[in-house]
Amino acid sequence: MRRRASRRLFHVLGTTFVVITLCLFQFRNSSPFGHKAKNQRWTATSGLMRDIRNSTLGFEKIFVVGLPSRSDRRDGMVLQAALSDMQIEFIDGVQGKDVPDKAIPISSPDAKRLADGSIGSWRAHLNAAREIVQRNLSSALILEDDTDWDVRIRDQLYDFALSAHALTQPLRGLRGGYADPTYPQPSDGSPESVPETDFYRLPTTGPPTISPYGDNWDVLWIGHCGMHFPFHHSKTVPKGRVIRLDDETVAPKKNLWTFNIPFTLKESYPEHTRAYHHVQEGVCTLGYALSQRGARKLLHEVGLKGVTDAYDILLRFFCEGEKGRAAGRQCLTTQPALFHHHRTAGRVNGMSDISNHGDNGEFREKAITDMVRWSVRLNVEALLEGRTDFVDQFPDE
Ligand SMILES: *[C@@H]1O[C@H](CO)[C@@H](O)[C@H](O)[C@H]1NC(C)=O
Ligand SMILES: *[C@@H]1O[C@H](CO)[C@@H](O)[C@H](O)[C@H]1NC(C)=O
Repeated sequence: MRRRASRRLFHVLGTTFVVITLCLFQFRNSSPFGHKAKNQRWTATSGLMRDIRNSTLGFEKIFVVGLPSRSDRRDGMVLQAALSDMQIEFIDGVQGKDVPDKAIPISSPDAKRLADGSIGSWRAHLNAAREIVQRNLSSALILEDDTDWDVRIRDQLYDFALSAHALTQPLRGLRGGYADPTYPQPSDGSPESVPETDFYRLPTTGPPTISPYGDNWDVLWIGHCGMHFPFHHSKTVPKGRVIRLDDETVAPKKNLWTFNIPFTLKESYPEHTRAYHHVQEGVCTLGYALSQRGARKLLHEVGLKGVTDAYDILLRFFCEGEKGRAAGRQCLTTQPALFHHHRTAGRVNGMSDISNHGDNGEFREKAITDMVRWSVRLNVEALLEGRTDFVDQFPDE
């Protein structure tokens, strides 16, 4: 009897020991990015993550695409970049009329040539992608020349990177696999939606080794005029969603807009919510990063296959594996976007080099940047003086 009792005691003690050890192990491995670690986010992480603070925002290069004749825009971009401690390189935009028919791949005998504006934009963006491939850059951020961003862009990108890890990096430790069961691609039996991940309780993932944004992405589409959350029925887009409440860089709902209706972020979430997820039906290519791998695939799928639609729609086909483009791309985004249109004061028809707005004599009295609270461009004077009393374009009531 006594022997059996002591064996049981031994058993209980042993189990307790194992459980405690496992708990400690889990605790030690618990998210370095969790709520409590928020304030030490610059110190608690690997060297690669620190690169997000560098002069190319954790990418190898930053390219700005636009026509050389738009010296006004180049002046603006150079100034914004300087005041943001960013290094940029220009990629010359192209006039559609200068691109011969022969240089435009078609996918059917009766294909029609797109309007010059769309051809020029397609070519300029593909030139940027080609540059990445030819120079073997590990990644590059591509911006259009009329964009603007928040003074806090590095914090925003850092948080984007943390969320990107949760969406695409393998889980660390005993569990293995991915936090999102529909990643890297939904399968026949996989759920149509998955529970949202709270930004303040991200799962612990293995650290990336190639890019601070993760080792498994093709496109980071972070400047746009609209995104949908992944559709339930999409067979190619993983459903993971990271939701961040109380992002002070997000403008009040009354100042948010999108081309993509319904605007779920605005309709279903509280004020100042930011979402991170996979690309679904992005509109406008104001800013996006390509990895080397992404640029190669883009050159193949969008440079060398039928140019059937405007570039942003082709990029959407690319990300979602549609219209003859292979599935399996990994494209991440955030809502609201991080790069937005800047609209200068002056004649409104100066806005677009793509579509012809015509000269209706309209004059914009006051410059604005869509949805960006502490706009770099609109705080140039403070930044030039080294002041930090930034003007918030979209204050709460
Ligand atoms: C910034 O970080 C990225 C990612 O590590 C790196 O590729 C790039 O060269 C760095 N940029 C500069 C200017 O050091
Ligand atoms: C491109 O860069 C990768 C990673 O640094 C390297 O392994 C590869 O050899 C390079 N390719 C060329 C053609 O330089």
